Amino acid sequence: MALILRSCVLVILFFVLPFKATSDHHHHHHHGLKSLHFALFQHETVNKTGYIITKGVAGAGLSETALPFGTLFVFQDPMTLTPNRSSKAVGIAEGTSITSSFDGLQSISVAKITLRLKRHTGSISIVGGTHNVKPSDHPVVGGTGDFMFVQGYVRSSPVDLKSLTVVYKIEFHLYWPPFAAQFPLDEGAHESGL
Ligand SMILES: *[C@@H]1O[C@H](CO)[C@@H](O)[C@H](O)[C@H]1NC(C)=O
Ligand SMILES: *[C@@H]1O[C@H](CO)[C@@H](O)[C@H](O)[C@H]1NC(C)=O
Repeated sequence: MALILRSCVLVILFFVLPFKATSDHHHHHHHGLKSLHFALFQHETVNKTGYIITKGVAGAGLSETALPFGTLFVFQDPMTLTPNRSSKAVGIAEGTSITSSFDGLQSISVAKITLRLKRHTGSISIVGGTHNVKPSDHPVVGGTGDFMFVQGYVRSSPVDLKSLTVVYKIEFHLYWPPFAAQFPLDEGAHESGL
């Protein structure tokens, strides 16, 4: 009986944990390396939260999801906890992307993502290549606030490309280097005039 109960608890844990990890942030401390894994949903509406600033050079027969080579696109998109636009907004993605492949499907993106999570507030900066219709990984180059010195990557996957508002799932895989834990010590040095 006890054995059956224990395996029931295990089964429940296996089903609940992956769901929790995507709907809320999840901590790991492994040999002093702090990490955080969670997912948010970015909502982008052309001519409302994202604009084409400079139209690129026209290519041959571009599809609906492609933009001409050299197109400069600027966005300030809300990020929510679930794919539903009405769910709680906990982040803002501000950035630019420039179409960098001749077929119009790939771009170079630079973005600052401001986050207001339950236990972490600040921003992370990302830079990398984005594919218009396939998932892409963007290296995290750093952060501010609670995300100071953060590293890792952000995976962006299109969820809904058909609607007027395009939705992307953004998975964060963040890691703090060991020296980040010592950061508050620097404030003392700063105050003493160093
Ligand atoms: C956005 O605005 C531009 C310029 O006014 C217009 O040409 C374009 O069709 C609009 N796009 C959408 C999807 O509304
Ligand atoms: C989105 O959320 C709103 C408010 O919570 C709710 O009324 C609506 O039914 C939801 N839409 C979908 C498609 O789940």
